[in-house]
Amino acid sequence: MSVGDDAGIVAHGIGLTRAGRRVLDDAAVTVAPGRVTALVAPSGSGKSTLLRCLNRLLEPDEGTILLDGVDVRTVDPRTLRRRVALVAQAPVMLPGAVHDNLVHGLADPDPAVVARALADADLDPSFATRPAGELSGGERARVALARALTRDPRILLLDEPTAALDATTADHVADALRRIADRGIGVLVATHDDRLVARVADRTVGLGG
Ligand SMILES: Nc1ncnc2c1ncn2[C@@H]1O[C@H](COP(=O)(O)OP(=O)(O)OP(=O)(O)O)[C@@H](O)[C@H]1O
Ligand SMILES: [Mg+2]
Repeated sequence: MSVGDDAGIVAHGIGLTRAGRRVLDDAAVTVAPGRVTALVAPSGSGKSTLLRCLNRLLEPDEGTILLDGVDVRTVDPRTLRRRVALVAQAPVMLPGAVHDNLVHGLADPDPAVVARALADADLDPSFATRPAGELSGGERARVALARALTRDPRILLLDEPTAALDATTADHVADALRRIADRGIGVLVATHDDRLVARVADRTVGLGG
């Protein structure tokens, strides 16, 4: 895979008003392939909102978001959300087993990809058959990470991925993010977790990029 100067996400001039409030104002961020970028800014400053703009769960009022040099507004949203996968802070589990959650929406799931996704998310293979509704918050967070990985994303966006985790499990997730980035995926992690930032971030940015 050749990696050009415009590879990954380049967003700038992002503005968004919601319910009469200016939520994002001239926000910018870049997400480079193979790197872990930490997005660190105060609570309520718009980190989660910006992540949602990057895969078009929200449409900004102003600004430009390029994925590999292509304006994301020209990309079909479902295609975009596979390439730019978002792991939400409080992920919703579908009914059924963890395995059902991992392969949902995939036409032809590859068992090897599913197994690797579980391992990458620091989940034992036995989790595949666990009912998703019975999982703890921290287990759900890791299933959501595994689910995103089964989509073979180019970019992985994570919103506070360690918020529900003990320090040891959080370190495992940090190490998983390093392995994921080492495969060429661009990782953007919105976090308040200094330990995570110190352990894995190649670069720390605020909402100004
Ligand atoms: N649906 C909405 N309608 C109106 N305002 C919203 C909506 N969602 C979020 N906001 C506001 O947008 C601002 C940014 O919220 P956001 O969740 O992006 O912040 P954040 O940086 O992720 O905060 P935290 O660190 O606490 O997760 C907040 O003032 C919030 O109240
Ligand atoms: Mg947030």
